[in-house]
Amino acid sequence: MTETSPASWNGRVVVVTGGSRGIGYGVASRFAERGAHVMLTSRKAEAVAEAARSLPGDVVGVVAHVADEAAARSCLATALARWGRVDVLVNNVGVNPHFGATLDVDRARWDKILEVNLWAPLMWARLEVEAGLGRQRSGDGGWAGACPRTSRSHPAVRPGCRAPARPR
Ligand SMILES: NC(=O)c1ccc[n+]([C@@H]2O[C@H](COP(=O)([O-])OP(=O)(O)OC[C@H]3O[C@@H](n4cnc5c(N)ncnc54)[C@H](OP(=O)(O)O)[C@@H]3O)[C@@H](O)[C@H]2O)c1
Repeated sequence: MTETSPASWNGRVVVVTGGSRGIGYGVASRFAERGAHVMLTSRKAEAVAEAARSLPGDVVGVVAHVADEAAARSCLATALARWGRVDVLVNNVGVNPHFGATLDVDRARWDKILEVNLWAPLMWARLEVEAGLGRQRSGDGGWAGACPRTSRSHPAVRPGCRAPARPR
């Protein structure tokens, strides 16, 4: 994260998928230490609850398989109900269930890679924009309204947030 003044995250709402340990937990702790409200998700109830308890400030842990759309909706609805907004989504969960040559991967593992690493982040991003901003899809597949104020993500990972046209 780009270092800004420590207070700059005060009152912001951050959702981190896979926040019970590892990189996600590290990212969540940085936000929490800077005053953000933080939601962590993971599959294991005890682990995510313990992670949330260990962090300072207003942090909640929620059980959700990252590819479960109903669970994702529920997480974001919970964040909205509790804090009234969602400013930042950290799509942290990723898996690598296959070791070796890509040509040797079996169908089940390939499906898992696509579901967790590609589908889930897109689904969470879409739900976050819909839930957090109340935006509606416009006819051309984009989003009516502005992109999240706090988002500094590349447009490719923020659906509908288009980069300015390049000069030709
Ligand atoms: N560590 C590295 O050096 C490194 C380097 C480059 C990229 N990455 C990538 O960065 C991401 C995080 O890596 P990490 O090392 O921090 O991983 P990690 O220590 O294994 O932590 C993964 C986190 O994601 C959660 N999780 C895993 N599968 C999930 C699922 N299907 N649904 C919901 N939560 C799930 C885990 O909790 P539960 O098990 O309770 O669900 C845990 O909180 C991964 O995509 C990894 O490939 C890591």
